[in-house]
Amino acid sequence: MSARPFRRIAFVTAGLVLASTVAASSGAVAAPGSPGEPRYAPGDPGAGDPYFPLAGNGGIDVVHYDLDLDYAPPAAAPAPLEGTLAGVATIDLVALADLDRFNLDLRGLTASAVTVNGKRVAFTQAPNELVVTPRPKLKAGQAATVVVTYGGTTTRPTDIEDALYGWVTTRDGAMVVSEPDGSATWFPVNDHPTDKSTYSFEITVPEGLTAVANGLLLGSETAAGRTTWTWDAPDPMAAYLATATVGNFRLEQYTAANGTPIIDAIDVTRSPGQVAGLARTSEMISFFEERFGPYPFVSYGAIVDNDTVGYALETQTRSFFSSSASENTVAHELAHQWMGDHVSPGRWADIWLNEGWATYASWMWREHRGTTTAQTLFTGVMNRAATSSTWSTVLAEPGPLGIFGTAVYDRGAALLHALRVEIGDEAFFDLATEWVDRFGGGTATTSDFIALSEDISGQDLDQFFQVWAYEPTKPTTW
Ligand code: TRP
Ligand code: ZN
Repeated sequence: MSARPFRRIAFVTAGLVLASTVAASSGAVAAPGSPGEPRYAPGDPGAGDPYFPLAGNGGIDVVHYDLDLDYAPPAAAPAPLEGTLAGVATIDLVALADLDRFNLDLRGLTASAVTVNGKRVAFTQAPNELVVTPRPKLKAGQAATVVVTYGGTTTRPTDIEDALYGWVTTRDGAMVVSEPDGSATWFPVNDHPTDKSTYSFEITVPEGLTAVANGLLLGSETAAGRTTWTWDAPDPMAAYLATATVGNFRLEQYTAANGTPIIDAIDVTRSPGQVAGLARTSEMISFFEERFGPYPFVSYGAIVDNDTVGYALETQTRSFFSSSASENTVAHELAHQWMGDHVSPGRWADIWLNEGWATYASWMWREHRGTTTAQTLFTGVMNRAATSSTWSTVLAEPGPLGIFGTAVYDRGAALLHALRVEIGDEAFFDLATEWVDRFGGGTATTSDFIALSEDISGQDLDQFFQVWAYEPTKPTTW
């Protein structure tokens, strides 16, 4: 919803070279010397995040995505693990500049038609980019509805570390988990957390399968052997947290102690032991509310699939678990709803603010359960050898291949524990709740966190954060 535009940075990528060639030949700029007249220019192909240069787009702020998806999972084995996806994405956006052209991210799928405010417009596709030419051109501040009709064959995409992500085709459906830049594998999107939006979904799948998205289930309707599942997600959400997971799920619905409606989707093959960690969800919500403030969204729940992407993801309001949901992981993904989802990283380099908090939250949960203490877990991390990547990684600049590394999780959690000891419990939990309250619904960066820590504690923490967040060495004194 609220976009915080980055400074323009020139990236040397094939996509951009292509884009700027088109820009140079479009010549759609107002004549010089006409003050006050719009000066139309193309939107940038990326949001300006140096870790993922083509993720997100310049010049647009998406307010709402309405995703109408029709999905056919793979035919029975031994047919290849490929599905068929047909989509109509209705995207309400606001132009942030005078635009003669703008991009959305779209990868591996083909657009067949694009309209802007009801008029068919020209478009082209380049790797990761759908390039739209609105006519009439868009003026800064103008709202527009963009409808993209698209589709294609779904596969099992991987991120830059070769981990499965995006629309991951499974035998009985799809696992849809898109951190950090995988949403473009299933819908045309401004794929950067600085642009949060509301979502609605209508997902049609073969009768017998369940399509699970974010937010609240409005209903399902079956006709001619196909079932359409309708979901509404009214809380502003970063694109990577959207899901439309399809499988053989049993839905379990109940209300948490704090009143939040819970919708769990459990693959029918899961044994009670594989989902035992979910039993304490309601108690965990109350536990984290005491530390982070009110649960920020309209609903919660888990998806536990029979297939695996190799990790769990904090998909907003509906955390995804591969194969099974252990209690620690359930606590970790739930804590992300405040830390990572409601308050999102301003740049991917800031991801320790997601993972450090979620890891530290699970330390506190384990202490609450009496199995260990946060101090013991902190000591365990501090006992790692000086040569460990926990210490050789600069926490606040882990690099694009380091965003899911051990430093981001464990050094991040250790930083938070050390900070708690440094400023005391009262200031630390004031900081946690104020962080969520002030930046919730938007994004925040490491510098925002340092500034708020100093504000609330009244201490000069420059040396503390230098040692913990900016040095590629093991902290010894701080
Ligand atoms: N953000 C996820 C979590 O901590 C983890 C995650 C997403 C991940 N993509 C990944 C971990 C790829 C390893 C590899 O809950
Ligand atoms: Zn996490």
